[in-house]
Amino acid sequence: MAENIFKQHHQINKEKRGEKLNQKPCILWFTGLSGSGKSTLADGVEQELAKQGYATYILDGDNIRHGLNVDLDFSEKGRVENIRRIGEVAKLMVDAGLIVLTAFISPYQSDRKQVRALVEDGEFIEIFVNCALEICEKRDVKGLYKKARKGEIENFTGISSPYEPPGSPEIEIVTDTLTIEESVKKLIEYIVPKVSK
Ligand code: ADX
Repeated sequence: MAENIFKQHHQINKEKRGEKLNQKPCILWFTGLSGSGKSTLADGVEQELAKQGYATYILDGDNIRHGLNVDLDFSEKGRVENIRRIGEVAKLMVDAGLIVLTAFISPYQSDRKQVRALVEDGEFIEIFVNCALEICEKRDVKGLYKKARKGEIENFTGISSPYEPPGSPEIEIVTDTLTIEESVKKLIEYIVPKVSK
């Protein structure tokens, strides 16, 4: 870290912004294997929250890796830095008063724990999008599992790179048995009381 830098405090803060938006800002952190349904569920939850008047923003792995994190690969080091940056961005967005939905595999427990520690108690809601590897692989929406099995993608999560499931997520959605609509409904029932003033 650079030396001789000092934190500035501003009069318009998170509480004031949250009041204006009439919501409690937080991070809805979706974690799970590729193809488990993180982006789909985040999208569904955001649509419903928007309908109910909440101010939201989605940070999505595939999108962020085209921009902010274009320099990072899928090695352990690359993934750790990916989540560290996203954690910092999400924290800024919480400070801006928003409900931030993030959809990243985020395979390491320790990285998710670090993001949780960046924000205040209750502001990090970990959502485990739980889907068996066989089902994700069968879905193979992007054709990546097939490539990974052929050895064309290295460090592929679930195949040649680990995924550490959350020990005690705030909420778990088993997407191999629930439909998208059922999953979104369950999430909204849990989330709305947490984010409303
Ligand atoms: S994370 O592990 O660093 O959290 P992130 O969510 O940003 O991953 O990106 C995952 C997306 O990148 C996947 O949905 C998939 O489309 C794509 N991808 C490309 N290579 C890999 C890989 N080796 N492992 C997992 N996902 C990959």
